[in-house]
Amino acid sequence: MTQSTPSAALAPMQAHKSRALSGRVRVPGDKSISHRALILGALAVGETNITGLLEGEDVLNTAKAMRALGATVIRTGDFAWSVKGVGVAGFAEPAAPLDFGNSGTGARLVMGAVAGCPITAVFDGDASLRSRPMRRVLDPLELMGARVTASAEGGRLPMTLQGARDPIPMQYRTPVASAQIKSAVLLAGLAAPGTTVVIEREASRDHTELMLKHFGAEIVTERDGVHGRRITLTGQPELHAADVVVPADPSSAAFPIVAALIVPGSDVTLTDIMTNPLRTGLFTTLREMGASIEESDLRGDAGEPMATFRVRFSTLKGVEVPPERAPSMIDEYLVLAVAAAFAQGPTTMRGLQELRVKESDRLEATAAMLRVNGVNVEVSGDDMIVHGTGSVPGGGLVATHMDHRIAMSALVMGLAAEAPVGIDDASFIATSFPDFIPMMRGLGAELT
Ligand code: S3P
Repeated sequence: MTQSTPSAALAPMQAHKSRALSGRVRVPGDKSISHRALILGALAVGETNITGLLEGEDVLNTAKAMRALGATVIRTGDFAWSVKGVGVAGFAEPAAPLDFGNSGTGARLVMGAVAGCPITAVFDGDASLRSRPMRRVLDPLELMGARVTASAEGGRLPMTLQGARDPIPMQYRTPVASAQIKSAVLLAGLAAPGTTVVIEREASRDHTELMLKHFGAEIVTERDGVHGRRITLTGQPELHAADVVVPADPSSAAFPIVAALIVPGSDVTLTDIMTNPLRTGLFTTLREMGASIEESDLRGDAGEPMATFRVRFSTLKGVEVPPERAPSMIDEYLVLAVAAAFAQGPTTMRGLQELRVKESDRLEATAAMLRVNGVNVEVSGDDMIVHGTGSVPGGGLVATHMDHRIAMSALVMGLAAEAPVGIDDASFIATSFPDFIPMMRGLGAELT
């Protein structure tokens, strides 16, 4: 079991004020799409070839889980993987507990897939994942006929899930905008007869829906209210293997993008960035702040659009981020807070309650990251206001709490702060962006 850190030992690191960043890079494949490509490949009949897969710890743990559940998963080249699936509801009972390491997405999506199979599986993860809420996914899965036979307090990991022999289709209204809850219900619904319906008040990322369609499922999405969606999946389809090209991850691109915006003189180009509108809230917000981000070479694959971004140093101003934008930038508030610290004037971010249940309590951890580096930040309830003054004193040591995005955000901040910014542990960066340090150094970042 992975109980502590991917590297076992803490890996402290420092970011120093750097000269202009420049270059052209492709950040790794999208994490959400990579998990889904492996899972749907494992549930399909035939061989799925995936290119551009994110080879980060989170996704590698999902690959291992798919093997343990009976699929044949082979790395065929750099970022190229082949998955031979077992068909819908065809998972075999795993011989050992499934260890998802740091990954909430891997754990929760696979819970959905297992819930529709007549097998029992133990789910586990590291200390961060063991602390995260699982009831939000287990509640609907139990309504569909799965059973939790053992767990830590409140359904937390380690947890034993007994899949349903005869899964029941249902209509489910998600209590929070969460693609993980929606996806778990849809993946369980694959094995149920009839239609499974998920209704969300605010649309969350729709990669599961797009990829299910790509693999041949009948799935229809309609609007529900102003920001919501109603998704109807016809159960028991035969999923056919379908090749997947994974575009670059906008949530990973966010780090070099904000770095380029705050380090004077920078001019950085990022290729193949996925531009699904349910993922681009950060870019909208940065543009409202005055960021120079030019898009070109727009194209798409498997229903997912992508583009090349050219980002240049920009004078930023504080803005108010509308709360309904949160689902489309939920993983990006940390690095937005860094951009806000370098902007002139306050940036107000409201309705951030979901940040409290990510890899760490990201609301508190982000505020602490800024404060220890001399930035004035207020947290009140689930809102955060960063009072930007155009510069950041720096000089602080940031506690990363086993959270890759805190680590990368703090290092980005240090590239433009007056004094170096330290982090206690860079090892968790490997969960989502294994080449972050060499890629940033290649652009001119001073990281020691
Ligand atoms: C993800 C959904 C989001 C996001 C996570 C990836 C996904 O979580 O924070 O990093 O791939 O479905 P929630 O759906 O729980 O908000």
